[in-house]
Amino acid sequence: MIVVMGSGEGTNFQALAKHISIDLVITNNKNANIVNRAKNLGVKYIISKDQYESHVPVNTKLVILAGFMKLLSPGFVDKFKIVNIHPSLLPSFRGIDAIGQALDAGVKFTGCTVHWVDKGIDTGKIIDQLVCPIGPNDNKINLQQKIQKLEHKIYPAIVKELIHDKLD
Ligand code: GAR
Repeated sequence: MIVVMGSGEGTNFQALAKHISIDLVITNNKNANIVNRAKNLGVKYIISKDQYESHVPVNTKLVILAGFMKLLSPGFVDKFKIVNIHPSLLPSFRGIDAIGQALDAGVKFTGCTVHWVDKGIDTGKIIDQLVCPIGPNDNKINLQQKIQKLEHKIYPAIVKELIHDKLD
């Protein structure tokens, strides 16, 4: 079983679904567009505001977080292999609003990071990263678009490798 957990727009889920077979989408947010994307792609989905962890089947090989905005419990993190994508070059700008944090800090480069999930917030082992320069005219909206383009490349590529080569 390959499970995607998301809370929002679902563009990463959609990019992943082009390259790998996803068995189940779980969201904590009934209004999330990821639900519509799952419906359109014919992927089974479950909406659960608070009990999202309990819906992950025990035989799940990989849990893929794609814009999932809730903290997972330590027990859950121990039980499953979980991968996440974060819109910064970790370990810089952990947590919420990573793109705003990078703009506020005035850094000239940011990007996205694929990493394993541990019990901390965006502290797990880094698997891979892509870099995005920040120009003088960049703002939160266009920088997010640039980073998401990179995310849609790196996440399916890495997840494919994890599923086919490195797991089991
Ligand atoms: C992505 O940009 C992802 O990096 C970010 O949320 C967005 C979800 O977009 N995740 C985090 O900030 C996690 N800390 P999507 O729903 O369109 O895939």
